[in-house]
Amino acid sequence: MNTSVNATIRKGVEGIETMPSIPTIFAPLLELLNLPPERVKLDEVVKLVSYDNTIAAQCLRVASSPLFGLAKSPDSIRAAIISLGLRRVQTILLTCCLADTFPTKGWPLDPTVFWRHSLGCAMVCRKFSEKLHSDDGDKAYMAGLLHDIGFMVNCVAFPKEFAKAAAYAAQKQIAFDEAELATMGFTHCETGRALAEKWHLGPDTVQVIAHHHRPEQGESAQPLIALVHLSDLLCRVRGMGYGYYEGHKVDLVGDPAWAILLQEHRDLAKMDLALFSFELDEAVEEVSILVSTIFGGAQRETKK
Ligand SMILES: [Fe+2]
Ligand SMILES: [Fe+2]
Repeated sequence: MNTSVNATIRKGVEGIETMPSIPTIFAPLLELLNLPPERVKLDEVVKLVSYDNTIAAQCLRVASSPLFGLAKSPDSIRAAIISLGLRRVQTILLTCCLADTFPTKGWPLDPTVFWRHSLGCAMVCRKFSEKLHSDDGDKAYMAGLLHDIGFMVNCVAFPKEFAKAAAYAAQKQIAFDEAELATMGFTHCETGRALAEKWHLGPDTVQVIAHHHRPEQGESAQPLIALVHLSDLLCRVRGMGYGYYEGHKVDLVGDPAWAILLQEHRDLAKMDLALFSFELDEAVEEVSILVSTIFGGAQRETKK
């Protein structure tokens, strides 16, 4: 990347300083997420959630949604957390934190579509990881959730340019990063990396954000990047993409990411892809309900 593009990205990301501040609970939340689940104390989570009225209300709303089929809506944050489970609470907290940080007014992208893709990818990453009998399901989930964080940077820091890229992608039916490169000269991977570094996210997450479209270019954590890359593709073919039709053929097994992942996980060779992709339908349903409950808006269909 040339120096002037680099400077443009840095300037755009620096501009984020002037936007609403990152919710106070973000840093302690990330710390909490890095702990093994058995060390996370329920009281600490209750305290974190209660700290922010909007997030507390979101948690109660999601816990009362038909998704969980509870006979009685929980009447306290503690009850909501118990019925939702720690994993879902983490998802809601992070989603709400990021949604609060990046106001979606005037976004050139439908925020519901963006969150369906991000949460969908997170869920697919975890399921994929479980199929491979890996212990890193939560880390994969987090990487999936944050992989396209650069979209939010672009929406806020480069709204006009990003709107052009989005229109170009839909018109040419090409991958989003290709359209960004053709129209802006850089992609959400670079802006996402700049933000991830500024926020001091973990090095593996930074690598995923920077290289999820080209896992072979990753400087480290290549198997994780490859897993997110394949999950991203799976989401896009299962109707959880970016809200437009992408014309290119997807060949997961022929993708360089498949070979990278196979080197680390020999179980991949035995995986029934057709069955796995069929099993994801349940995840698609759960994500749709979760997103429409969190954002309270109408559920929109992603045409593919
Ligand atoms: Fe991406
Ligand atoms: Fe993506």
